[in-house]
Amino acid sequence: MSHMKNEGRRARIIGTGSYVPERIMTNQDFEKIVDTSDEWIRARTGIVERRRAADWQASSDLAIEAARRAMSKANVAPEEIDLIICGTITPDRMLPSTASYIQRELKAVNAWAFDLAAACSGFIYGLAVGSQFIETGRYRTVLMVSTEILSRLIDYTDRGTCVLFGDGAGAAILRTCEDGSGLLSFDLGADGNGADLLDVSGGVSRLTGDTESAQHHIRMQGNEVFKFAVRAMEDSIEKALRLAGLDKSDLDFLIPHQANLRIIQATLKRLGLPPEKSVVNIDRYGNMSGASVAVALDEALEQKLIQPGDCVGIVAFGGGLTWGACVMYL
Ligand code: ACO
Repeated sequence: MSHMKNEGRRARIIGTGSYVPERIMTNQDFEKIVDTSDEWIRARTGIVERRRAADWQASSDLAIEAARRAMSKANVAPEEIDLIICGTITPDRMLPSTASYIQRELKAVNAWAFDLAAACSGFIYGLAVGSQFIETGRYRTVLMVSTEILSRLIDYTDRGTCVLFGDGAGAAILRTCEDGSGLLSFDLGADGNGADLLDVSGGVSRLTGDTESAQHHIRMQGNEVFKFAVRAMEDSIEKALRLAGLDKSDLDFLIPHQANLRIIQATLKRLGLPPEKSVVNIDRYGNMSGASVAVALDEALEQKLIQPGDCVGIVAFGGGLTWGACVMYL
């Protein structure tokens, strides 16, 4: 790590974990439900199959499993955790937060805990929040976990959305480090003007009296989101690199949000990165919102596609609209 400048205290990811439910839903399964085909889904999205939570599982169940795996790899005991951030748009309940269940089940007795809603950008938003507390010296250990059961929000009559989403969770443990590695920079953004491009209209304080189940389904203007996504992914990672004093040629590996294989390919092309410097899991899991990049990070580490010392970027965009990127030395 001699190429790294030591600039004091940073947050470093010292362990990751992921969990996806066992049940698989294939493209062929969708052919029986809506007017679609395996060929269309593969060609237009890159998705082959996605996971489905068991009926008894809620988002916290997935998160707890992912968190336990991350804690085990990081060798962190529950009582060492100072803060738990749960990124989710499919919380177990309206009240309490999903983070509360996670804190209880992990017996993380010294942690405070809250949920963070930023859709697919949630994992990066959460890393940014957690790392602030570490950089200031206030805390030493933060658990960031993104978890999603998007299948509970799917309209199985809308072929434009129902094939896209999957269930899963990914976690990372942040810990203070002073050796020059860790999270170097973040670019974070939001544009509420795009709020209606991707939404679930049902809620609490804006219930219209119409409690039709349609309020509880994801609706999306896919084309508009697609155009925004390609631009946002490139811009955001470039900004994060600039903030770190780096260039795209310094990047050893990029973990992009997994919403559509064509968006990933377009982003890599615009950044001049070859496919082997990136990772794809949308073929196996579909779009798991914020959990997509968290699971991809864990799998890339497990498969040793990335190693300590590597310069790694994570970039995502999602409902809100939101976007974010971070750059780290592993
Ligand atoms: N099977 C077959 N045909 C389909 C399907 C399907 N599953 N879905 C749509 N089509 C049809 C449409 O009805 C349309 O038919 P028409 O021409 O007769 O009207 C045709 O295919 C083309 O539709 P488009 O919407 O233009 O297809 P496109 O190539 O844009 O692909 C998609 C749609 C996959 C949704 C794409 O736009 C996309 O990936 N957008 C980005 C989505 C995204 O990033 N979302 C992030 C959400 S993450 C979060 O925050 C939770």
